[in-house]
Amino acid sequence: MTDAPTVAALFDAAVAARAAAYAPYSQFRVGAALATPEGAIHAGCNVENAAYPVGTCAEAGAIAAMVAAGGRRIAAILVLGDGPALCAPCGACRQRLREFAADEAHVLVAGPEGVRARFTLGELLPSSFGPANLEAQP
Ligand code: THU
Repeated sequence: MTDAPTVAALFDAAVAARAAAYAPYSQFRVGAALATPEGAIHAGCNVENAAYPVGTCAEAGAIAAMVAAGGRRIAAILVLGDGPALCAPCGACRQRLREFAADEAHVLVAGPEGVRARFTLGELLPSSFGPANLEAQP
């Protein structure tokens, strides 16, 4: 399980990213922060668009920040959104995470008050299609 100092750092980074979210259409602000196995933390927020489908999720922003910094593996991610329901990663983001994370990676779902639920990526996206499916292709 992700250690407490890492959870605290992920939570703080997600709170800060969420404060910068651009969500003028849904008003639903999301922050995400991920930790690499090396201990680096990268954060992102949702960025909506007047052409609705073009908007991007907070998880996508955090992944892009990681890749731009040279990171390639995700050990844990914390996603923070408000409201009574869990702000768990959407289906597309579960697949985005799968590209860089193992089934054992930790996915923490938080509200403004703190962590609400903990999953593994394998629990959220079982029997997934991933990079290994393409590794042995001729
Ligand atoms: N959203 C995220 O950023 N991450 C999720 O895991 C769920 C949804 C965003 C997309 C959109 O800007 C807003 O939340 C409402 O769907």
